[in-house]
Amino acid sequence: MSDFKLTRYRIKVSDDLRGPQQPFSAILLSDLHNASYGEGNSVLLQAIRNEKPEAVFVAGDMLVATQEPQMDVALALMDELTKQYPVYYVEGNHEYKVRKYTEVYGGDGNRFFEAIQSFGVHLLKNSCERIDLQKMPITVWGLELPWQCYRRFQKNELTAGQITELLGAPDEERYNILLAHNPVYFEAYAAWGAELTLAGHLHGGVIRLPYFGGVVTPQFRLFPKYDRGIFKRRGKQLVVSAGLGSHSIPIRINNPPELVVLDIS
Ligand SMILES: [Fe+2]
Repeated sequence: MSDFKLTRYRIKVSDDLRGPQQPFSAILLSDLHNASYGEGNSVLLQAIRNEKPEAVFVAGDMLVATQEPQMDVALALMDELTKQYPVYYVEGNHEYKVRKYTEVYGGDGNRFFEAIQSFGVHLLKNSCERIDLQKMPITVWGLELPWQCYRRFQKNELTAGQITELLGAPDEERYNILLAHNPVYFEAYAAWGAELTLAGHLHGGVIRLPYFGGVVTPQFRLFPKYDRGIFKRRGKQLVVSAGLGSHSIPIRINNPPELVVLDIS
């Protein structure tokens, strides 16, 4: 891959919750699809290091679920990142497929997850971890979406109640960051109580037009609402990465790959 753009979002913590003692940065990675920027992803790694992040959040689809899953680059990147940063990871539909269909993928999904955990990645499988970043109490949640939420031609509903069944209730006195690969369900994530949801999956809408935004998703849906950017609802926020790689529709027009930096204050 040739180049990516660095996109920066300012996340202001509401006065109801304790914010950080000092502003800090965190990285959102999504939809790498095993792409490499420079030898061993050196360009991407340097861009991340330049930000001196307190944490790296991964919103899934780092590999490609082809017959022989492509995951060597994703594995090497996780190995490098965990040497320097805490890394929190939720699966996307590609990891889900490779994990679930062992008859097709021969257990590669489980091998991938075992490997990244052995590097020190915090894999969140309908679970959470409580961390303090610059003295800010944060709960990071990872939502494993049911497979119906990834169907190509039929939209599945997902409610806040179903999320509670999968995760439990959010922490009232902490800042809840939800990693959820598919941004389509932002209303439910906000209603459940995620102050900040981090997602990807839609690749920015593949082709972007002025005024209309993204045209189509890798799932062949037209004009997705939450294609890339920052969105607000009920005082909650969603950041959607356009991703760093591609699959299914291997083009991007007016829609560069991106590395997302969150400046939290
Ligand atoms: Fe995806």
